Amino acid sequence: MKKIFAEHIQEMFDVPDETLRAGMRDFMNDMERGLVDSKISTLYMEPCYVALPTGKERGRAVALDFGGTNARASLVELTDDGLLMRKQVAKPLRKAGAYDVTTSTTTRDELFDFLAALVVDVLDGNGTEQTLPLGHTFSYGTHQEDLHDARLIVWSKEIAVPGVEGELVNALLADALRRKHVNVQPTAILNDTVAVLLAAAFAHPGTAIGTIYATGFNSCYLETFGGNRLPMVYNIESGSFGHFPQNDYDKALDAASAKPGAQRLEKMISGRYLGELMSRIVRDGDAFEALPTFTGEDVSRFATEGTETESIVANALIRRSAKLAAMTLAAVLRHRANVDGQERVPAQPLAIDGSVFEHMPGVAAEMRKTLSMLLSSEEAAGLTFTLEKDASGTGAAIAAVLGTD
Ligand code: BGC
Repeated sequence: MKKIFAEHIQEMFDVPDETLRAGMRDFMNDMERGLVDSKISTLYMEPCYVALPTGKERGRAVALDFGGTNARASLVELTDDGLLMRKQVAKPLRKAGAYDVTTSTTTRDELFDFLAALVVDVLDGNGTEQTLPLGHTFSYGTHQEDLHDARLIVWSKEIAVPGVEGELVNALLADALRRKHVNVQPTAILNDTVAVLLAAAFAHPGTAIGTIYATGFNSCYLETFGGNRLPMVYNIESGSFGHFPQNDYDKALDAASAKPGAQRLEKMISGRYLGELMSRIVRDGDAFEALPTFTGEDVSRFATEGTETESIVANALIRRSAKLAAMTLAAVLRHRANVDGQERVPAQPLAIDGSVFEHMPGVAAEMRKTLSMLLSSEEAAGLTFTLEKDASGTGAAIAAVLGTD
């Protein structure tokens, strides 16, 4: 790759402050529209029907984490000593040359039987006399009317299994568990961002954790209403934001994806898609015939140990991801301060999980810079990032226990 090409890419992926400010304004408008009616917004603003834990929840539960790459089942116990992980089994959703439960030719029963089999494995003959509650961290956009179940709105992360969109996900899971004669009852379903919120609130009881920003840069936060209604946790599908300008690489990636036009911001931010953007750029820069298949991990590696040109490109992709993530976060924080009648965004911890934040170089610093620019440096200084590792499992177990009350 020529240096002049890498520098051209760097410029293409640079986001001027003015564009970020406009993006933040549009995101806030879309949030407000989404709270009125999801049809007039590109963001789904979905209430989650979950209470914040007090830290005093106790019990045994199965936690099922169904994310983009792996599915994991854990047997978890909430005790006076905190959360104890008794056993965990995990399996990738796709294994080259062996199986793939994410394709358009996979039936929904095959997918849910795959998940139920993990639950069977994690129990391994234990705990089946008494019905165990199951909490399901389901990292896709859903519409919920209670904590127990949720309807999938639209698949993301390139999952294409038919017959699940529009359906109640835990009902499908419960059917699959029945087919396996396992004495486990799904009692809760939650998005991974909500799992991060619950995990953080459980680990730091009493801390005013307001806005949470999590895996894949989706976010959820507490919306406080006037009158005597209780604050409600809202999940925002930040990744579906559709008003941010795409460049030619974003457009090409989107057009070739399983859902063109959907999850446009996610395709600019998440680790999975950063790998694909890198592949497309390297193919052009090196004039390869075939598209190389880089992952998010490759992007991290290029950024730190790559050649000069690889590092220019990888860092440009990572920097843009961090800026856009911070833009959505600034919008959520400012929205929430406005709703609460606060002139300034109050100091608060932001609980975060996810590979981009955890592993990619410079993300936290870039986010902090962008938050200072979009809010103010005083407001940004009051925000602390806390990494909530394994929150999907912890949050699911907490929700499962909360769901049995
Ligand atoms: C999903 C979100 C999820 C995010 C992070 C997106 O693909 O639509 O619901 O929170 O990924 O996992």
